[in-house]
Amino acid sequence: MGTLQRWQANITKRASNDLLRELRVEEGTIDFASNDYLGLARNSTFQQSLLEIAIQSPALMTGSASSRLITGNSSIKEDVEGFLAKRYDVESALLFPSGYIANLSLLSALPQRGDTVIVDELIHRSVHDACSLNQANKWKFRHQDLNHLEALLKRAKGQCWVVVESVYSMDGDIAALRGLAQLANLYGAHLIVDEAHAVGVFGDGLIPTYGLQSQVFACVVTYGKSMGLHGAAVLGSEALKSYLINFASPFIYSTAMPDMMALSIQSAYQFLDQNTQLAVELQDRITFYETEMLGEVSKSLLTPIQPVIIPDITKLRSITKAIKAHGFHVYAVLPPSVPEGTGRLRISIHQYNSREEIKQLAELIKSYAQ
Ligand SMILES: Cc1ncc(COP(=O)(O)O)c(C=O)c1O
Repeated sequence: MGTLQRWQANITKRASNDLLRELRVEEGTIDFASNDYLGLARNSTFQQSLLEIAIQSPALMTGSASSRLITGNSSIKEDVEGFLAKRYDVESALLFPSGYIANLSLLSALPQRGDTVIVDELIHRSVHDACSLNQANKWKFRHQDLNHLEALLKRAKGQCWVVVESVYSMDGDIAALRGLAQLANLYGAHLIVDEAHAVGVFGDGLIPTYGLQSQVFACVVTYGKSMGLHGAAVLGSEALKSYLINFASPFIYSTAMPDMMALSIQSAYQFLDQNTQLAVELQDRITFYETEMLGEVSKSLLTPIQPVIIPDITKLRSITKAIKAHGFHVYAVLPPSVPEGTGRLRISIHQYNSREEIKQLAELIKSYAQ
């Protein structure tokens, strides 16, 4: 079979299992799918503040023209990294063009042959991809099961790395961060926490909220979700920053983030400081959704990611289509993006979703899915 025929066979197999991925343009629908939890990506006041920066210095708008190590570095990027390090009370921050690249950099460069990387089984794909680039052993512990993690830590060889998300991207549950930090400390493991879905929703993230910075080896904060922008930063020690600059290929061999994005990231933090009501309003909307769906709220810290598991893919597809027909943008996440048998509607709640929209959506889900 030729290459094209092989591709076609794979695509046909996906399509016949109802699992085909396709790009779609969805405009004019009510957003219950994006990660723009606080509405910054659509906030015209925030947009205007960025526009003013750009009008004052149009040169900020274009690219960095090379990697950070050649001519792509700038005092702007260094200043923003200084701002981040100070804000997070860590020794250093290093900017990356995206969260995927930040995770790829960390986990491809740090673990060495003979080391053990232990990841939560639901860790983001970028961490798995990164591990395929290192020489260490990779083990998975059962989702959020600290006993299982401890059993693996007891058997681990070499330097051990534990990688978790503070808010899980497909399930919306929160990691037991204090317990994880204690375990990592007890077994001399380095804990890496991906805060992609916590930043903005819970202040600057859950690690600073819980004051755990000194117990975490590295934190990844990303800017494409609640911060309404693009990019990421790795927070940690000076030694970590220097190691990544020297050994992380995705950092070394890729064009640096444009200065405008670095300045926009700093502006996003300042905008959130001045608009603390956005996160409060988000919590209010999530509370309303959970009350509509379940009749009560599940816990004290609510996250905007609210999955509705529908294992039967055909049913999941048809429910998604039916809800979309009412003008709601909802997204079905299918295996292999989530484990087999756990296909789901990944509902994400936003500060800008009105109570009426949330009520209508909850009613539709209940009528179709339950
Ligand atoms: C937990 C987690 N980490 C990292 C990423 C990647 O971040 P980015 O979209 O900035 O590449 C995502 C995005 O899907 C994510 O959900």
